[in-house]
Amino acid sequence: MSPLTPDVAAIPKAELHVHLEGTATPDLIRRLAARNGVQLPTERLFNPDGSFAWNDFLHFLESYDLAAAAIRTGADYRDVTYEYLAACAAEGAVYVELIASLDHGKNVGLSDEEHLAGIAQGIDDAQRDHGITGRIISSIVRNFGVADCEDVARRTVALGHPYVVGFNMAGDEANFPASDYARAFAIVHEAGLGCSVHAGEHAGPESIRAALELPGVVRISHGVRAVEDPDLVAELAERQIVLEVCPTSNVVLGVFPTYEAHPLGALRAAGVPVTLGSDDPPYFGTTIGREYELAHDRLGCSLADLREITETALNAAFSDTEGLVNQPDRRADL
Ligand code: ADE
Ligand code: ZN
Repeated sequence: MSPLTPDVAAIPKAELHVHLEGTATPDLIRRLAARNGVQLPTERLFNPDGSFAWNDFLHFLESYDLAAAAIRTGADYRDVTYEYLAACAAEGAVYVELIASLDHGKNVGLSDEEHLAGIAQGIDDAQRDHGITGRIISSIVRNFGVADCEDVARRTVALGHPYVVGFNMAGDEANFPASDYARAFAIVHEAGLGCSVHAGEHAGPESIRAALELPGVVRISHGVRAVEDPDLVAELAERQIVLEVCPTSNVVLGVFPTYEAHPLGALRAAGVPVTLGSDDPPYFGTTIGREYELAHDRLGCSLADLREITETALNAAFSDTEGLVNQPDRRADL
């Protein structure tokens, strides 16, 4: 990928929507598989050019799980976290919330404690080496079932890990309605975690409305299909519900046909607070820096708008982000 333009590179960035297993590049997945003696299903997982293979959303979720099965130890989770945060720091990111799934750790035989300790080590090492702050959002996956999701909610609260600052729900929104997961959200909301839900990506405005009914939800992952319902857009603006928007993910997964058709600009114009995220960067051929650049080049955002998007993200973060842009050169930018 070509380097970011200097103007965009200089802007401090913050990312609230990226899936930890989905940050691991094909190269890292191959390295981890070799280290763990795991045979990857190479034909199904990779294209001939070495990129991840998928051809629609449900196939993407399948490839994601196949690749994630190569991440097996606390040290692996440390490396996935560290490599991603280091890459973000190189693009000017100061803060990243990593959506992590206890299910994926459990699937490979890791205890929740080992899983989180590995991620936390990656966060600490990246902070030390690159000055970037990372925090963890514990995620449930709708299509793993209600009972599993409630179990993850309880385990998240029981762990009480200081870096786990929020809760999210990912997976197949079209076939697994949000209302079934109210109890899971009640558990984490009562424990004080900030909540966000994937909605309005592969289902329409009703899915977003249902997500907003869940206890504690103040952000929506994607939410872009709100644009189909002007009343909902007005409600999001009125309630200042923050959308964690991932333009490239939306375009490559076919939610919108082109960047020019993407509603980021329309949502901003209507007063809806938006942030930028890369979702699953190597699957979608993007990075957080590239999302900022695209927003500037193709989605009508000025450099000042990009700074405002970062400010929105830092204000909507589920942890204290005070002072993260205090470095003299960055302070001037915001
Ligand atoms: N899990 C990883 N990426 C996702 C996405 N874009 N939507 C829903 N679940 C996901
Ligand atoms: Zn996502």
